[in-house]
Amino acid sequence: GSSADPVVRRTDDWDADRLHELAAEHDTPLYVQDLDRVRENCERLLAAFPDADVRYAVKAHTGRAVLETVREAGLDAECASAGELDRALAAGFGGDRLHYTAVNPPARDLDHVVDVADREPDLTITAGAVDTLDRLAERGYDGRLCLRVNPGVGAGHHEKVRTGAAPKFGVPYDRAARIAREAAGRFDVVGIHAHAGSGIDPDQLDSHRELVSRMGELARELIDAESDGDASARESDPLDLEYVDVGGGFGVPYHEDDEPLDLPAVAEATRDAVGDLPGLALAIEPGRYVVADAGVLLTRVNTVKPTPGGTVVGVDAGMTDLLRPAMYDAYHPIRNLGGADGEPAPADREETAVTVAGPICETGDTFCTNRASARPARGDLLAVGIAGAYGYEMANQYNSRPRPAEVALADGEATVVRRRERLADLTTVERESAEVER
Ligand code: LLP
Repeated sequence: GSSADPVVRRTDDWDADRLHELAAEHDTPLYVQDLDRVRENCERLLAAFPDADVRYAVKAHTGRAVLETVREAGLDAECASAGELDRALAAGFGGDRLHYTAVNPPARDLDHVVDVADREPDLTITAGAVDTLDRLAERGYDGRLCLRVNPGVGAGHHEKVRTGAAPKFGVPYDRAARIAREAAGRFDVVGIHAHAGSGIDPDQLDSHRELVSRMGELARELIDAESDGDASARESDPLDLEYVDVGGGFGVPYHEDDEPLDLPAVAEATRDAVGDLPGLALAIEPGRYVVADAGVLLTRVNTVKPTPGGTVVGVDAGMTDLLRPAMYDAYHPIRNLGGADGEPAPADREETAVTVAGPICETGDTFCTNRASARPARGDLLAVGIAGAYGYEMANQYNSRPRPAEVALADGEATVVRRRERLADLTTVERESAEVER
């Protein structure tokens, strides 16, 4: 039942014995994604935003089992590339539950998406530049279109993911109404869209509100112009707006001291800020919120090194498996689950400050620095928490490291949903012979 669901699932909320079994059976590093928690998160979003269109931002976790879970829970799919669109189709999304948002889309992606739209005419394409509209029209596309607007206000956990005010995204707010009206001559303009950024926390709700209220105003400007006969609007084709999409970005409390977002309060603030939208739906597109706390990364301690600056704990996962700490200085909770031969349970060991570091030749390959922890021992299993969003998705093969395996849990049953890559997988795309034509 949703009322008993925790607001966030922390590393302590996982069954340690089960995690030990999974690590023993499937080896480490290992991602574990709990589909039951994914479903709960979908339900929490739907309950807080009962009248909104809720679209899952597929980029946060593209695994097939996750996509199927999200589809069964009733969310739409918001795709950021041709590859994500294909994954959503393969997971059974179709019809008006498919959305694609182009940011400087490569020609190959546009060709593919326009091709998919031939078969799936209820797909909506979101575009944020007049050039993208032209490129769609050049390909004969005249279907459902949503205009991405740069709202001039951003939010998020790190500068690198605050998209709202970055000129890269969306058409300038002041030109949006004119561009939307012009686009209506070529496409079926069904929506306007803006996204503040990723990881909006409770102190950034003002920015969220500001974005939402600007989008509400723009929507009213577009529909009023139609009804009261604004001259420029009369000359162009009518807009048939269906929705205002205010983006995703709902934050998750990674740190033990972070205050969680009060989702129903956010929903209420969103409805207030958007104002009256006669005949229009509100849409949101969360990614992180759906999957983040449904995942952990398990990693094994292989080295414990005392140094004058504290204890360095070497583990078998690195920035190739979970890039967020290296890329954004992101905090992930880390729990020592113990398991080292002959050692007491971590709760019975003294506390010490640890720096947990991976096997990659960069200083940034560090999951935490001088963090208080139970004294670690070689062979211990660590659970890196809240790793389900942008975890496996940003994994890479730097240092010729095969990507980890992932298991999905459903009703406690574990299934390997992505097998561990092998060394041979590293060279599958490479020319076999060392001889190169010059
Ligand atoms: N909609 C659009 C247009 C987006 O660009 C994004 C995320 C979302 C929705 C979903 O945002 P979410 O609800 O997941 O915050 N790799 C970074 C996050 C990058 C987010 C990019 N866009 C990280 O690990 O923090």
